[in-house]
Amino acid sequence: MSDRLIVFDTTLRDGEQSPGASMTRDEKVRIARQLERLRVDVIEAGFAAASPGDFDAVRAVAESIKDSTVCSLSRATEKDIRAAGEAIAPAPRKRIHTFIATSPIHMEKKLRMNPDQVVEAAVAAVKMALQYTDDVEFSAEDAVRSEIPFLIRVFEAVIKAGATTINVPDTVGYSVPGQWGDRMAQLIAKTPGAQRVVWSTHCHNDLGMAVANSLSAVLAGARQVECTINGLGERAGNASLEEIVMAVRTRPDVFGCSTQIDATQIVPASRLVSQITGYPVQPNKAIVGANAFAHESGIHQDGVLKHRETYEIMRAEDVGWTANRIVLGKLSGRNAFRQRMTALGIEFDSEQSLNEAFARFKELADRKSEIFDEDLQALVGIAPVATDERFRLISLAQQSEMGEKPRAKVVFSMDGREVSAESQGNGPVDATVQAIEAEAKSGAELLLFSVNAITTGTESQGEVTMRLAKDGRVVNGMGADPDIVVASARAYLNALNRLNQAPRPNAQQL
Ligand code: KIV
Ligand code: ZN
Repeated sequence: MSDRLIVFDTTLRDGEQSPGASMTRDEKVRIARQLERLRVDVIEAGFAAASPGDFDAVRAVAESIKDSTVCSLSRATEKDIRAAGEAIAPAPRKRIHTFIATSPIHMEKKLRMNPDQVVEAAVAAVKMALQYTDDVEFSAEDAVRSEIPFLIRVFEAVIKAGATTINVPDTVGYSVPGQWGDRMAQLIAKTPGAQRVVWSTHCHNDLGMAVANSLSAVLAGARQVECTINGLGERAGNASLEEIVMAVRTRPDVFGCSTQIDATQIVPASRLVSQITGYPVQPNKAIVGANAFAHESGIHQDGVLKHRETYEIMRAEDVGWTANRIVLGKLSGRNAFRQRMTALGIEFDSEQSLNEAFARFKELADRKSEIFDEDLQALVGIAPVATDERFRLISLAQQSEMGEKPRAKVVFSMDGREVSAESQGNGPVDATVQAIEAEAKSGAELLLFSVNAITTGTESQGEVTMRLAKDGRVVNGMGADPDIVVASARAYLNALNRLNQAPRPNAQQL
């Protein structure tokens, strides 16, 4: 058995199915470039047949990525496979990932197909996908609740048809580690032709066991793991890439395999995904949470100072944590800015995007004397949705005094004209949002408001997420600023801009 574990990242497809995490084409390309720096083997860029917007986004990723394989999901239908094949065409390495459900409940209630029809559709899909690329993955959706003899029958047929990767998904997050590993072992042992393909695992986290289940499948012989940055994904999310990669790397004695991931790119990838999707990372999240390497207790601190390995099994710098270092200030010029960004792995497509980011940097440096790497990452992570945004913050003034109702006055541009609105509220953020709503009249419902400090200390920028819902659509807006009320106004306007964009149905809505 090979000792190489293939990392298949589905942040841009399954991750995007989280409420409000829908990304624009440019945002997908920015994340895909970071995934390439992270050296993931396969980037699942989206579901090309879902809409023209999804097709464009997958194609834009295929045009930008040179080293990783670019993949599109497709159902086992001619229309989907054609869209997937055309969208990934520009990529030097390309894969089609086709799937059909194999559990009795899905076949009978959702597909309304009998088992023979499912096998036939799976084989036809793989054969058709091979016309576009020789790298074809087949997934048996809801494999966790499928009968093993039927899975073996489908897998044998698609391997004969030419599939090169067989993916076994726990679509509903139902399995437990021992059982999942055992299922993988049985499938590998009993499927004729099993040795000709790579076996893959794809786990959801509904019972909090996605990573444990994936690792159990690896122990049983799976050599591809499907995962997302920060464990992003609908419901409780997918298996987290950083946890799987670091488990395999920290415990070679147990797993006996390795990935080609550049672990120093993990934290930058985590930040970028969080800032673009508006999903904050919980502080105690393994590997990428703010406290993941913080030793609070005196005994631990003493031990770590005397000999690091007493309490640390991994080094923070190995996964990309940098000490909060002042890197730039208000006198730093464009070249210093560009150089530091390059050192952080951030590239600009054009002089115009460099100039825009530099202008945002100057604006920040005027108000924040010490600029850290984390501030620079937020500067590009939390970039405007589009150059022609409908709403843009111009200025904000607010007063609050203990015992008094806070007031806010917000000036912003709306459809190119400047509007000004004032309001009172329960708190300064509430007053600000009410002032914006007085003019914007979006009628959107606020589902979530969260504030995180980007770096340590009270001088840190606040990073705000506002999740809005309207007419069945959910979007996340992000804003960052040393003043958290300003960050909140930016996040709210960012969410309104996202609501204003044409909706893009995702896989779940199909
Ligand atoms: O969870 C799932 O079953 C999927 C498949 C499409 C692979 O995401
Ligand atoms: Zn999934």
